[in-house]
Amino acid sequence: MATVDFDFDSMREAAMGVLGTAQQGINSFAIENLPFVSGFTRMCNDGWLQGWHERNGGNLTYRMTDEDVESARPFFDPKPREWVKMGVTGENLAGSFFLTTGSGKYMRNVEGDPAHNIGIVEINKKGDAYRIVWGLLDGAKPTSEFPSHYMNHCVTAARTDGANRVIYHAHTPGIIEMSFIVPLTDRDFTRRLWQMMTECVVVFPAGVGVVPWMVPGGAAIAEASSELMKTYDTIVWAHHGLFAAGPDFDTTFGLAHTVDKAAQLYVAARAANGGSEDWLNKIEDQGLIDTCHDFNIKINEAFVG
Ligand code: 13P
Ligand code: ZN
Repeated sequence: MATVDFDFDSMREAAMGVLGTAQQGINSFAIENLPFVSGFTRMCNDGWLQGWHERNGGNLTYRMTDEDVESARPFFDPKPREWVKMGVTGENLAGSFFLTTGSGKYMRNVEGDPAHNIGIVEINKKGDAYRIVWGLLDGAKPTSEFPSHYMNHCVTAARTDGANRVIYHAHTPGIIEMSFIVPLTDRDFTRRLWQMMTECVVVFPAGVGVVPWMVPGGAAIAEASSELMKTYDTIVWAHHGLFAAGPDFDTTFGLAHTVDKAAQLYVAARAANGGSEDWLNKIEDQGLIDTCHDFNIKINEAFVG
């Protein structure tokens, strides 16, 4: 009688190979695997791990490239939802698409369930309304800070020739602590932050802008913030947190991280110094100027000397 020798190991290996390729095919069709979506969800999680996003605190938006839009279009709803007025107008980004966190959604939940916690919105041709085209399932809405995000995008895109794409809002503890003990001016915050770590002046050579305490979530704070974003990539919202702008997720997260680390160092150094700002040792203004000179960076001269 004829017998057949089965090599089970190599059969199993071959089967696993076929399954793996099929799995990869399925995964590559998930919107979560598009690079701009996975970069966005990773940043949400990074902020959560820093402790910056208690409950629904903080929000993130990303202005999509034309390629991003084409890669995501197969996932768009068959029928877009209603247009919603933003209460602000920004004509230069009319027609753009943004990935945004949802209002009332928790950053810690974004990675596990993107479709319920984030969404893609399209801006209308006048630049004064959005409509949801993907995600934000079960009646969710874009972040309540969308007017601030949108206006900050308009201003930073214009000032960087379109390079800026990310706006990030986080409830960073160091900056909130500083709001209690430092005069709420751009100069007072910037100088103290620059003096905390040698590389601060390199990371944010323009300094930071300060919005005094305001009611969040509306057009007034959006206008005040975007006015400052004409000059700065980082805006302090007194007793609330910060807004950071950048061309990509790494740069924007790194900026927020650097600013808040400096703020925490300031508060800790001041407490360790008995509450006084009369430091035994510090980086002098000439040191800030020399650092920028050697790194070939233009310091904001209004804040030195
Ligand atoms: P949202 O949940 O609407 O994004 O609001 C959180 C927040 O930080 C408001 O400033
Ligand atoms: Zn907030």
